Amino acid sequence: MRAVVASGYGGPEVLSVAEVEKPTIGSNEILIKVKAASLNSGDVRMRALDGGDGLKGFIAKIVIRLLVGITKPKRIPGSVLTGEVVEVGADVTRFKAGDEVHAMAGFSFGAFAEYCALPDKRAIALKPKTATFEEASTLAFGGNTALYFLRKAGTAAGKKVLIYGSTGAVGSSALQVAKYLGAEVTAVSGPDGMELSKELGASKVYNYRETPLNEIEGTFDVVFDAVGKITKKHASHLIAERGQYATVDSLDVAKESSADLAELSHMFDEGKLVATIDKTFDLNDIVEANRYVDSGRKKGSVVIRIA
Ligand SMILES: NC(=O)c1ccc[n+]([C@@H]2O[C@H](COP(=O)([O-])OP(=O)(O)OC[C@H]3O[C@@H](n4cnc5c(N)ncnc54)[C@H](OP(=O)(O)O)[C@@H]3O)[C@@H](O)[C@H]2O)c1
Repeated sequence: MRAVVASGYGGPEVLSVAEVEKPTIGSNEILIKVKAASLNSGDVRMRALDGGDGLKGFIAKIVIRLLVGITKPKRIPGSVLTGEVVEVGADVTRFKAGDEVHAMAGFSFGAFAEYCALPDKRAIALKPKTATFEEASTLAFGGNTALYFLRKAGTAAGKKVLIYGSTGAVGSSALQVAKYLGAEVTAVSGPDGMELSKELGASKVYNYRETPLNEIEGTFDVVFDAVGKITKKHASHLIAERGQYATVDSLDVAKESSADLAELSHMFDEGKLVATIDKTFDLNDIVEANRYVDSGRKKGSVVIRIA
C-alpha cells in the first residue's frame, strides 16, 4: 500500500510517499481503509521533534523518541483519520466490516496511508452520517481537545466564555463546542479570521492585532487559550471571580475519547458543528501540506485526501 514515510525528524522534506507492507491485524484490532486524514499541529510538531519550550519541551522530545523512534520515526505518521472498516479481529465487538468511522490513532499513528490498523480501545466512533469523509476527518483533533478543556473548566449553559485564538483547529472547534454547551462566546482572532469567528457563532470578535488583551471588555467565567499564546497572568483581569482559565500549552493533554468522538458526530449531524476546511491536499503532496501547516496560519483544518 502507499503510505507516508519519514527519513528522520526535521522539516517537511523528511517526508515522502512509498510503497510499504499493508498492515495485518491482531484479535483486538480493526483494519480501516483510510479515505481522508487531517494534518494537524500535533503531526507537524511530532515530525519536527518540536515539543515546545522549556522543561515541557525537553520531556516531550524524550517521550517522542521513546515512543516513535530514537533516531527517526519508525511508524507511519498521521494521527487522525476517517475511513471504512474492512476487517475486524476475532475479539472486536464494537465495530464490523462496512462501518464508516473517524478515529484518533494516538501513539499507534499510521493515518497517512491507504490502510491503518488500530486497537479497538483507541478513540474511534462512527463518523457523522451527513459528513463526507473529508469533513469527518476535521472533527476529532480540535473537537476532542475543545470538549476536554472546556468541560474541565466548567463551560455550561449561560456561562460567558472567551476563546483566545478562535481560528485554528482547536480554536474553531472550541468556539462551536462552547456554543453547543450553551455558553455565550466572545472570540479573539487575527484580522483574516474575524468573519469566520462570527460565522461559527461568536457574539463578539476582537482582532488581536488591534486590541491588546487589556482593552478587552468585561470578565469571563471561562478563558480558554486555544493557541497557547496567553498565560493565566496575562489574562487575569479577564477571569471572573470563581472563573477558570485553561490553555492548550500545558502538561495536561486532552484525553482521546471514543465517547467524545461519538458526541462530535452527533453534533455534526444535528447541525451544531461544521467542518472548517482550509485546504485539501492529495497524499502525494504531503510535503507541501506540511509546509502549509508549519506556517501556523491555517484556518480550521488541513485535509489529506487518501482514496
Ligand atoms: N494540550 C493538548 O492536549 C493539545 C491538544 C491539541 C493541540 N494542542 C496545541 O494547541 C495549539 C493550537 O493547535 P491548533 O491545531 O489549533 O493550531 P493551528 O490550527 O495550527 O493554529 C493556527 C491558528 O492560530 C492562530 N494564531 C496564531 N497566532 C495567534 C495569536 N497570537 N493569537 C491568536 N491566534 C493566533 C492563527 O490565526 P492568524 O493567522 O490569524 O494569526 C491560525 O488560524 C498548538 O500549540 C498545539 O500543540 C494542545
